Amino acid sequence: MTLLTRKRFLRTAGAAAFGAAVPNTLPAQSQSPMAESPMAQPPMVRKPIPRSPNGETMPVIGLGTNRYKDPGNAAETAQRMDVIRTLLDAGGSVIDTAEGYGQSEAVLGELFTRMGNRDQVFIATKVSERGRDNGIETMEKSFRELQTNVIDLMMVHNLRNDDVHLPTMLEWKAAGRFRYVGVSHFLSWFQSGVIPVMETGNLDFIQIKYSIDMRGAEKRILPVAQDLGVAVMINVPLGRGSLLEDVEGQSVPEWAREELGCKTFAQLLLKFVISHPAVTVTIPGTTKAKHMADNVVAGQGPLADAKQRARIAAIWD
Ligand SMILES: NC(=O)c1ccc[n+]([C@@H]2O[C@H](COP(=O)([O-])OP(=O)(O)OC[C@H]3O[C@@H](n4cnc5c(N)ncnc54)[C@H](OP(=O)(O)O)[C@@H]3O)[C@@H](O)[C@H]2O)c1
Repeated sequence: MTLLTRKRFLRTAGAAAFGAAVPNTLPAQSQSPMAESPMAQPPMVRKPIPRSPNGETMPVIGLGTNRYKDPGNAAETAQRMDVIRTLLDAGGSVIDTAEGYGQSEAVLGELFTRMGNRDQVFIATKVSERGRDNGIETMEKSFRELQTNVIDLMMVHNLRNDDVHLPTMLEWKAAGRFRYVGVSHFLSWFQSGVIPVMETGNLDFIQIKYSIDMRGAEKRILPVAQDLGVAVMINVPLGRGSLLEDVEGQSVPEWAREELGCKTFAQLLLKFVISHPAVTVTIPGTTKAKHMADNVVAGQGPLADAKQRARIAAIWD
């Protein structure tokens, strides 16, 4: 049954394919919509990074920080530390930033140093400058701002000058400065451009947009990534928050609570995304610890199978 009273404006055509069934990797354990104390939380589901040389896996829920643009005041700093602590306490580790997100890299670098937790974080960032020398300069700046010698994942932001930046990135990966390299895009109608770059065999990760109302990636990009063994990081999984407005005042269906342990619509939207077999991790953006605590629950308990994913999608259709 469709619960929506207001249809979303943007819809992706041909969104019928929901991917193959995903095995339920963990039993549902959480009865709370919010994360409880670290001790009480069930483990977060992890997925393999296909090109990892040593079988590395990654927790499925991360954090996006494109609104950590300026240093902020003391209260904001405390809130951001709470967000990061909540993610790490729940077994998460992936934090996404970019040279293009104002001072987000510097803000994070300062927080990691103050909290002493850089080694618990998988940091992903991006280069977007035009030209080889500008790219090198800003990637060097990323190391300085993030206060680290190794960046876990460096991506070309929105495919800007990828042919120019990737040779440097591969060189620095070989030198151990980056652990993985990739490319990102967030506009659905441009992101098929990641396919030929994946086909070069040089990418460990792609970062693309995929959400319940934007399912175009199911047609080609996600199957190609899966075939080629490229890890997939999903940005904008909550439609920048608008998907939650669609269901304001409504209740999560009983079956989703019972079968998937999802008590909130944010958890259901994230569960839909991470349950696609090609998806490795998603990075919902939040500035609030209570939202981070909500989001990590999506990474606990069983993933949704194809039938359950279709039932989640029907809520927003
Ligand atoms: N590669 C690219 O070109 C590209 C482009 C766009 C974004 N990104 C990355 O993807 C990340 C995610 O995208 P996004 O932040 O734009 O969109 P999003 O994750 O779809 O949505 C973020 C919005 O949802 C709210 N929110 C988060 N969790 C919530 C919860 N549990 N309950 C209620 N509201 C919740 C946030 O507000 P609160 O702060 O109030 O929680 C924020 O307004 C970005 O931070 C960035 O790292 C990459």
